[in-house]
Parts: sequence; structure tokens; C-alpha cells
Amino acid sequence: MEIWAIANQKGGVGKTTTTAALGALLAEEGMRVLLVDLDPHASLSGYFSLEDLSGMGSVYELFREHNPPTIASLARNTGHRGLWLLPAAAPMATLDRQLATRKGTGRILANALTMLDNVYDYVLLDCPPTLGLLMINALAAAQRLLMPTQTETLALDGLERMQRSMQMIERSMGRVLPHWIVPTMYDAGTLNNRISLMTLRERYGHAVTRQVIAADPQICEAAEHGQPLTCWPAAQQSTDSYRALLRELLAAGRQVNEVSA
Ligand SMILES: Nc1ncnc2c1ncn2[C@@H]1O[C@H](COP(=O)(O)OP(=O)(O)OP(=O)(O)O)[C@@H](O)[C@H]1O
Ligand SMILES: [Mg+2]
Repeated sequence: MEIWAIANQKGGVGKTTTTAALGALLAEEGMRVLLVDLDPHASLSGYFSLEDLSGMGSVYELFREHNPPTIASLARNTGHRGLWLLPAAAPMATLDRQLATRKGTGRILANALTMLDNVYDYVLLDCPPTLGLLMINALAAAQRLLMPTQTETLALDGLERMQRSMQMIERSMGRVLPHWIVPTMYDAGTLNNRISLMTLRERYGHAVTRQVIAADPQICEAAEHGQPLTCWPAAQQSTDSYRALLRELLAAGRQVNEVSA
């Protein structure tokens, strides 16, 4: 089982979209995929109409001090073959405050996921745009980190913050987290976008994926209809881009595995 975190402290950069798209593509290839919605705003859960209004069937429950349920018991089928979701709920926004004095809370998710090795092939963690307990849990559990980044000046500053958070967590875990920056919402007709993409490649080199995700209003349409891109023919071009991105990430991941073997 491979665990990927999709994170960036900047909001609205395509984290949830990328999680849903890559998850659907992996499932289409016959993989068993669990999406975990770590954002109290529950956008990913909303995408699949699986919001957990009570909080009783959500990630929130994993953080219960006594007898937390297993992830397998909380995961819901999305209605798409091979694709499950562990929903988010609003009370998750209170976890940082509630658990401030409890020790060992950074690895709760990592520990809960260790029991799922034979259940899923991939687990994708959709992070909130804030550095708090939930993102720390995601980075501690993940073997790979994807950082979707809008190709515009402000988003590059957000990425700097995310890089610092990642390095801080790498130091505290004593391990390197292989990571990739995924340029999203790219508009080749906009000068600022072209310059930002060049800046990204100059600053971060091979960590930036070759495949870029273009701005495409059909991505919003698919989300509004609760459909993964793979089920939304009008978004074919973006689906193909995400498919090429997945190929690239899987090949890069294999290289990482070979080097560390
Ligand atoms: N390539 C794209 N082209 C056009 N719109 C996009 C693209 N990717 C995402 N969007 C839209 O941009 C908005 C933000 O995307 P998304 O929710 O994936 O970002 P996010 O990083 O998860 O945001 P948040 O930080 O709020 O969780 C959504 O309305 C989504 O449909
Ligand atoms: Mg999101």
C-alpha cells in the first residue's frame, strides 16, 4: 500500500481536485483506492456527496482517545468501483484545540493506516490549507507528498511556506519525504502564468512535474455534478493530463523505491 499526501498551505490550488482525479484514475486501473478527507470544510466528501454531518462517521472519530473505530469501518463506497472515501466533518476544526495537551497525536493517522495494508493499494490524503494537527498527521503517514501549485506569483509564496513545513516535519521524523510540485490551473495565454511556471522550474528543478494541469472550466463542472473527471467526457483533455501526470508520478515513485531498496 502506498500513501500519498496532497498538501499545500495555500488554499484553492487544486488539492481536492487532484486527489479526486488521481484517485479515480488509479481505481480505473483496477487499484483499490481510499481517499481520506482531512479538511474540516469537507470539499472532497462533498464532491462525492458523502458529507458526514454528525461527525460520527468521519476522520474526527479516529482521534477519539478511547476505542477509536478502525478506518475500514468508517470508509464509505463512493459509488465508483474501487474508490472509497473516509469523510470529513466540521468538528475536525476543533481537534487542534481539543488535543493540545495530549501526547503522541502526530501519528494517530499513520498508526490507523498500518492496519490497512491488505485492504487498499493506494491511500490519498487530501489536506486542509493550514498547518495543524491534521496536516502533520498526513505528512507523518505519507510516503509521498504532492504539492499542487497554481502558476501565479502569490501561489509561489504559499509554496515556500509549504516547503518549510515539510522540512520541519522531515527533521522531526528523521526521514526524507519524496515530493513533487504539480503546476495547476495553468493558462499559457497569461504572461504571469508563463513566468511563474518558469520560476517554479528554476527554483525547484526536477521536483516540478513535467506534466502541467491547464485551467479548464470543465473541471469545476465535473465537481459541481459530483463526478470524477473520468466520468465527465467534456473534461477529456484534463483527464488525459491527469492520466499523464499519474504515469509520471508512478515512474518517479518507482525510481525512488529502487534508490532506497
Ligand atoms: N485545472 C483547473 N482549472 C479550472 N478550475 C480548477 C482547476 N483545478 C481546480 N479547479 C477549481 O478551483 C477550485 C479550487 O480547487 P480545489 O478545491 O481542488 O482546491 P484546494 O486546493 O483543494 O482548495 P482548498 O485549499 O480550499 O481545500 C474549485 O472550484 C475547482 O473546481
Ligand atoms: Mg481542498
